[in-house]
Order: sequence, then structure tokens, then C-alpha cells
Amino acid sequence: MSNSRIGTVALVTGASRGIGRALAVGLAKFGYDVAVTDLPGQAKELEITRAEIEATGRKAYIYTMDVSSKHEVEATTAALLRDAGRIDVLVNNAGILKPSLLQDLDEGSWDAHFDVNAKGVLLMCQAVLPHMRARKSGRVVNIASIAGRQGVPTQGHYAATKATVITLTRVLAQEVGMDGVTVNAICPGIILTEMGKNNLGSDEAIRHWEEVAALKRLGYPEDIIGPVCFFASEQSAFVTGQALNVCGGIYFH
Ligand SMILES: NC(=O)c1ccc[n+]([C@@H]2O[C@H](COP(=O)([O-])OP(=O)(O)OC[C@H]3O[C@@H](n4cnc5c(N)ncnc54)[C@H](O)[C@@H]3O)[C@@H](O)[C@H]2O)c1
Repeated sequence: MSNSRIGTVALVTGASRGIGRALAVGLAKFGYDVAVTDLPGQAKELEITRAEIEATGRKAYIYTMDVSSKHEVEATTAALLRDAGRIDVLVNNAGILKPSLLQDLDEGSWDAHFDVNAKGVLLMCQAVLPHMRARKSGRVVNIASIAGRQGVPTQGHYAATKATVITLTRVLAQEVGMDGVTVNAICPGIILTEMGKNNLGSDEAIRHWEEVAALKRLGYPEDIIGPVCFFASEQSAFVTGQALNVCGGIYFH
């Protein structure tokens, strides 16, 4: 893809490992300076992401925070605006999945999934969108999931949070489009990260889903980079409120 960034600074949450780290490094290779955030316990891993961003020649900004804390989200956004002066692209990637049958799901786990996966996206958007709207430019990319389109057993609570993310994407797109900001979502399929492998649980399950996939393989974090760079580029200027499946052909709606 030709380099047509819409600005200079991208922010990726949950970027100490997995899809978030791949996206941070991918956006740096695409030409963005990249701010990365994760929980305080992930500070060491964030340093690895920092080194990989800096190896591309771009600047890295690092902050620890919990996306489900309004206070921490606001403080981090203010710190980044002070340090980098602008935020052009926001990638809401932080998320959790602890599988459970709905029958057995405890209330605390339901709340925790909604706090991180759904409220975290809302809080980040509430903090960053006023800045983008004032500058009449910006891109938000929410990492949802194909689970948000069709739940599967043991992921009912997670799927409900990701369906919420898709709905927030559609509504936010309509609420901020007049100010030159687009909001889109990506729905990854099964990606072989810590979360993806825990979720599948066995080599047999991996082989099953590889066979189901049209492309006969499961995904790697790097498979999500191209679609995110598309949404973070001029090429997607007329695309908003959409949710794009990036799943190797295991789900088609
Ligand atoms: N791996 C998959 O198969 C898959 C499929 C569909 C969607 N997704 C989504 O992609 C995103 C990344 O998933 P991944 O597979 O890389 O998972 P992962 O568990 O490897 O990474 C998630 C990151 O989010 C961070 N995080 C968790 N809670 C947080 C909080 N409260 N505040 C800040 N950061 C927090 C974690 O520390 C971690 O670095 C998630 O939103 C996930 O739901 C993953």
C-alpha cells in the first residue's frame, strides 16, 4: 500500500504482546510514531514493543494504564497530547477472554469483561475523540471479534462485549462523521496469540479450525496489520461505521 498516512501519531491499547504489539510495530513501519499502553504489570513487555517500534526509526511513547479506569484513560490521553502534541489514530485493542459456560459464569467475570472490552472502548473514545473532532481529522479502529457476530459456547459473555463494540462503532461513526473522523471495527477470527491458543485449548481444536478455514490456516497477529493500516490511511476516507472480518474465511456474515 502506498504511504498515505492521515497524520503522524497512532495510539494502540493493550500493546505489550499479541495483536496489539504487532499493530504497534506495523503502524510504525507504515510511518506513524506510536504510543503504546498496557496494564502496569506488563511494563517489561511494553519495553520490548518500544524497542521494536524504535527499530523501525519511528518514535515510541509508553504509558501504563487500565482501559477500564476513566481517570487513568484521561490522564494517559492528556500525557500523550502533552508529549506528542496530537493523536491521529486510536486503535482500541485491549481485551480479555476467560471462557465459561453462561450457566456457570459468575457476576464478577461478566462485569470484568464488560469493563475492559466494552467500557474500555467507550472511555478511550470519550477521551480521544474531542481532540480529533477539534482538528477535523482522525481514525478510530476498534478490535472486535467474529465472536461479536456469532457467539459460541463458553464465550457468551465475551461475544456480548464484542457485539457491543460493533454497535458502538456504528453509532460513534454517525456521531462524529461530520467532523472528519471515521470509526471502524475489525473482527479477527482465530489468531494464534496467548488468548487465541488458550481459547482453542488443544492441537486437535487448532487442526479442526484450520480445516474449516477457507485459507486452511489460522491467523497470526501480523495478519491484522494490513486492515488496520487501511483504516489508518487516506485510502479508507469514505469508509465508516463498518466491521471487517479478518478471519481467513471461517465466518462470512
Ligand atoms: N486472539 C484471537 O483469536 C482474537 C480473536 C478475535 C479478537 N481478538 C481481540 O484482539 C484483541 C487482542 O487480543 P490478543 O489475542 O492479542 O490477546 P492478548 O491477551 O495476547 O493481549 C491482550 C492485551 O490487552 C491487555 N489488557 C487486558 N486488560 C487490560 C486493561 N484492563 N487495560 C489495559 N490493557 C489490558 C493485556 O495485558 C494484553 O497485553 C482483544 O481485544 C481480543 O478480544 C483476539
